[in-house]
Amino acid sequence: MAVDLVVRNCTVVTPAGRTPDAGVAVEDGDIVAVGRSDRLPDADRVVDADGNVLVPGIVDCHIHNREPGLEYKEDWESATRAAAAGGVTTVVGMPNTDPVIDRPEHLELKFERGEATAHVDFQSYAVVTSENLDLIPDIDEAGALGYKVFLGSTVGDVPPPNDGEILEAMERIRETGKRLGFHEENGEIIDHYTAQFKADGRNDPIDHSHSRPVIAEQEAVERMITFAEETGAKVHMFHVSSGSAAEAVARGKARGVDVTAETTPHYLWFTEDVMHEKGNVARIQPPIRDAEEQETLWDVGIDDGAIDCIATDHAPHTPEEKKVDDPFGNTWDAISGFVGLETEVPVMLTFVDRGRLTMEEWVRRHSIRPAQVWGMYPQKGSLQVGTDADFTIVDPEHEWTLDADDLHSKNCVTPFEGESFRGKAVTTVVRGEIVYEDGEVVGESGYGSRVDVE
Ligand code: DOR
Ligand code: ZN
Repeated sequence: MAVDLVVRNCTVVTPAGRTPDAGVAVEDGDIVAVGRSDRLPDADRVVDADGNVLVPGIVDCHIHNREPGLEYKEDWESATRAAAAGGVTTVVGMPNTDPVIDRPEHLELKFERGEATAHVDFQSYAVVTSENLDLIPDIDEAGALGYKVFLGSTVGDVPPPNDGEILEAMERIRETGKRLGFHEENGEIIDHYTAQFKADGRNDPIDHSHSRPVIAEQEAVERMITFAEETGAKVHMFHVSSGSAAEAVARGKARGVDVTAETTPHYLWFTEDVMHEKGNVARIQPPIRDAEEQETLWDVGIDDGAIDCIATDHAPHTPEEKKVDDPFGNTWDAISGFVGLETEVPVMLTFVDRGRLTMEEWVRRHSIRPAQVWGMYPQKGSLQVGTDADFTIVDPEHEWTLDADDLHSKNCVTPFEGESFRGKAVTTVVRGEIVYEDGEVVGESGYGSRVDVE
C-alpha cells in the first residue's frame, strides 16, 4: 500500500543527531515513518530532496501578523505567505492589533480570520492589561496559546499594568497552566530618557537605541523573574536583545524559576553600528545592542543555553511609517520594527555555516523548544511518528544576497536588505501538504489551521 508522500535523499536533522540518506513518509497529514531512504514505503508522490537537509518545521512564536485592524501593514494571508516562503510552518501572532486581543471575542475574530486565509498553521497570544484580569479564564477557554504583558511603551500603545496587577495576572495565569511572556523593558526608564533626549535635540537613529538602555531590559527581566519565583507562574522573556538580560535569565533558571527566553536573528547578526549604516530602517524595540552585549548574548544565551528559542519579532510597517526616504532623519518620527519571516532561516543557517552553532542546536532553538515552551509539542516540532507532518527542507550551501523586492510580505522594509547568506529554505511542508517549493508559494490560502492546545 502506498502512502501519500515520501521525501527521500536528504539528511534528517533533529537534536538527537543527523541521519544521512534518509527521509520521511506521510499519510493523512501525519508522519508515518522517518528513516533511511531505501526503507521508506512506496508513495503517491515522491520528492527527491537532492541531498539537502530536512528539519522539523520551523516554529516562529513571535510575529506581528497585524490582523485584525492593521491590514494596511500585513494580514494573516501575507504574513503566512512569507512564513511559507521562509520555511516556517507555525507562527504565533502578537496581540497589539486593532482591536487588541484582550477578550475572547477578539481572540475568536483573530482565529476566524486566520482560518479563512492562512497558508501555514498559527496561534495567538492574548494581552493582559489593567482592564481584563478577570477575563483570563474566558480567554483561556477561547484557546489562547499564552499571554503577553507590555511593560514599557511600544508600538500599539498598550498601557502596562502596574506591578500589583502583574502579580495578580501571574496567579491567575498559573491556574490555567499557560505561560506569560513580556515585552520586558522598564517603561519609566525609557520614558525618562526619551523625554530628555527629545528636549536636548538628540534625534539620530542611535539616540533612539540609547534612550532604551540595557538596564531597562535587564531590570525588567529581573523583576518579572522575582514575581514568577513568588507566584510560581511560568514566564517567558520575548526578544532578549542583550547579554546582560540573558545573564539575568540564566540566574533565574539557576534558581529554579520556570523562565524561558527567546532572541531574534537581528540581535545576533547586527550590532548597534547598523543604526549608523541603515538608520531608522533598523529601528526596533528593544534596540540592537553593542558588540560586547552581543558577544555575551552568544556566550550565555546560545552557548550556555539561557536562550530557549529563536523568533523573529516580524513587525511590518509601511515605507512611509519607516521613513525610508530619509533613513537618517529625526528618529522620533519613525516607527519601530521590520519584517523577518523570510530571513530567519537564512541567518541561522549562515551562523551554522560559520560554526557559531551546530545544525542540531539550531533545530532545537527554532523548532523543538518553541513548540515545547508554548505547549505545542510533540504535535509541532518533533518529527515523531503520529504527529503533524510539518517539515522544512533547507539547502545549506545556497549563497545569495537579499533583494527585499523578492519578499512576500505586504511591506518589506528590512535592514537585512543587501545582506548575504549561505543557506535557504527550499521546501516547506505543513501537515503533509507542500506549501512552498521551487521558489513559489504553492499552498492554498485558508489551508493553515489554528493549533489546538489544551
Ligand atoms: O519594534 C517593535 N515593533 N517592538 C515592539 O515591541 C512592537 C513591534 C511592532 O508591533 O511593530
Ligand atoms: Zn514583537
